[in-house]
Amino acid sequence: MEAAKGIRELDPRKCSEIIEEIVRMEKKLFPKHESLARNFHEELQKKNSGLLYMKFGEEEEEVVGYVMFSWISSLCASITKLAVKENYRRRGFGEALLSAAIQKCRTRRIQRVCLHVDPTRTPAVRLYQKLGFQVDELVKSYYSSDRNAFRMYIDFNDEN
Ligand SMILES: CC(C)(COP(=O)(O)OP(=O)(O)OC[C@H]1O[C@@H](n2cnc3c(N)ncnc32)[C@H](O)[C@@H]1OP(=O)(O)O)[C@@H](O)C(=O)NCCC(=O)NCCS
Repeated sequence: MEAAKGIRELDPRKCSEIIEEIVRMEKKLFPKHESLARNFHEELQKKNSGLLYMKFGEEEEEVVGYVMFSWISSLCASITKLAVKENYRRRGFGEALLSAAIQKCRTRRIQRVCLHVDPTRTPAVRLYQKLGFQVDELVKSYYSSDRNAFRMYIDFNDEN
C-alpha cells in the first residue's frame, strides 16, 4: 500500500524530537481526559508497548499520524491511540497505520486485538469496522462521567 511507505517504529531512547511533535498533536487532537500527553514518556517506556508514526512530505519532514499499542497478555494486544493530523485525513494514512500496528501486535502470537473508542468518533469507528473490528459492548462512563466507549475487538486464529 502506497500510504504505508513512511511508517516507522519509534525508538523512545533516540527520537526526542519526534516524541515532542507527537505530544503536540496529542494535546491538539484530544480532550484532556482522553489525552496521553502528560504521561507520554512513561507510556513509551513500558516494555509491552510500542508506537508507529508516519512521516510525510517531500523529504518526509512532518509527522502526520501515529498509532500506539500494547501487549496486555500473551493472548491479547490493545490499540491505545490512533490519530492523523486534520489536514492529512482521508488519504489512507489512518488505515495504513492501524494495519501496520495490527501486524506488529501479531508478531507475538496473540489471538485478539482490542480497543476502546468513543462511539461519537464516527471516522475512527468506521475505520475499525473496515479492518474487521466488532463492537463487544458499550462501556458506560469510560472516559468521563458523560462519555462512554465502545469496546471493540478482532480475533485471529492460526489460519489468518
Ligand atoms: C480516525 C482517523 C485516525 C482516520 O484517519 P484517516 O487517515 O482520515 O483515515 P483513512 O483515510 O485511512 O480512512 C480509512 C477508513 O476510515 C473510515 N473513515 C475515515 N474518515 C472517515 C469519515 N470522516 N467518515 C466516515 N468514515 C471515515 C472509512 O471507512 C475509510 O475507508 P474508505 O476511505 O474506504 O471510506 C482520523 O479521523 C483521526 O485522527 N481522528 C481523530 C482522532 C481519533 O478519533 N482517534 C481514534 C480514537 S483514539
